[in-house]
Amino acid sequence: MAAESFSLHLPALVSMCILALASSTDFNFPAVFNFGDSNSDTGGLIAGLGIRLDLPNGQTYFKAPSGRFCDGRLIIDFLMDAMDMPFLNPYLDSIGAPIFRKGCNFAAAGSTVLPATVNAVSPFSFRIQVDQFLHFKARVLQLLAKGKKFDKYIPQEDFFTKGLYMFDIGQNDVAGAFYSKSFDQVVASIPAILVEFETGLKSLYDQGARNVWIHNTGPFGCLPQNLARFGTDPSKLDEMGCLSNHNQAAKLYNLQLHALAIKLRGQYPDANITYVDIFSVKSNLIANYSRYGFEQPLMACCGYGGPPLNYDGRISCGQTKIIDGTSVTVKACDDSTEYVIWDGIHYTEAANEFVSSQILTGRFSDPPFADKMASLMKNKF
Ligand SMILES: *[C@@H]1O[C@H](CO)[C@@H](O)[C@H](O)[C@H]1NC(C)=O
Ligand SMILES: *[C@@H]1O[C@H](CO)[C@@H](O)[C@H](O)[C@H]1NC(C)=O
Repeated sequence: MAAESFSLHLPALVSMCILALASSTDFNFPAVFNFGDSNSDTGGLIAGLGIRLDLPNGQTYFKAPSGRFCDGRLIIDFLMDAMDMPFLNPYLDSIGAPIFRKGCNFAAAGSTVLPATVNAVSPFSFRIQVDQFLHFKARVLQLLAKGKKFDKYIPQEDFFTKGLYMFDIGQNDVAGAFYSKSFDQVVASIPAILVEFETGLKSLYDQGARNVWIHNTGPFGCLPQNLARFGTDPSKLDEMGCLSNHNQAAKLYNLQLHALAIKLRGQYPDANITYVDIFSVKSNLIANYSRYGFEQPLMACCGYGGPPLNYDGRISCGQTKIIDGTSVTVKACDDSTEYVIWDGIHYTEAANEFVSSQILTGRFSDPPFADKMASLMKNKF
């Protein structure tokens, strides 16, 4: 990445915010417990199913596949970094005595809020992720009772109440529904998804979770995966070139998710529930990509088929397969920092860095933390 484009992706102001955040008491969480899908999966699905994810996944930052569906870091990685914490290890990865002292990641790519169907990519739906957490916590408490031997590897008991519980899930439920349902049916299915989400959140609250941070769902109507399948009719596209119905469903999901966050805030006055508007940040990036140093808002960097989408549902990033009689290996574009979309379904590290920097301004969350940030910065600089 060129020096100029780096400063575009992470403006000086944001770097200052990150500095301020790291020392802010509100962001001083001893541990993070994360639940979600591929947007925040740091290697869970790959470990859980024992499947492979090949280069060029991971090439930009980790220099090897890292279990992330990305060329580098995810939003959660940038947020952990901003909080001065190590990247989260996946719950499902048992190799090499993984360190869970500062938290654990239960997210798995392809996961849904609703129970997984037989053909689902991930069997680790939200309820299972919550159950895994309950198992995790019970085991940790057992081990803590045995003395200090495991201190390096596991959280302290009070980390479960003082820790931050993060959520980024629902995209696969709503986007997936379009494969078998009409728009009206998709919209009608949203409340049941959120009832299930609420049930999981309540179990975690009952187990001591008090700091909750919920990411809403992004404009998945802009993903090549969906555009390739549903976007052949130009009348279905909006001014960004994205699927109007898909993004409309995402907005309706987010409205109801936000309402749920507000309702839970009323029910649990002793909890801090933050709702983060990822949809607005990602839409702004896609609509105004050139202002933020990008050149391709919708075309996949690592894909097959060439412009406009460079996406083919028969083969994924890094795979080698016979397609139409020819052996094809899906490689990455020359410079992933010019692309918003990595593999047709997920964002590039450069895009994730932009999104994280926007989240950290505090302007996209409810409650916002901009004022707090401003005063912190005044004290610091
Ligand atoms: C949670 O919110 C309460 C009340 O607004 C505040 O006093 C407390 O510091 C917050 N806790 C954290 C960990 O942010
Ligand atoms: C793109 O930028 C313009 C100008 O700042 C802004 O008004 C608009 O809301 C942005 N688009 C999106 C989708 O955020």
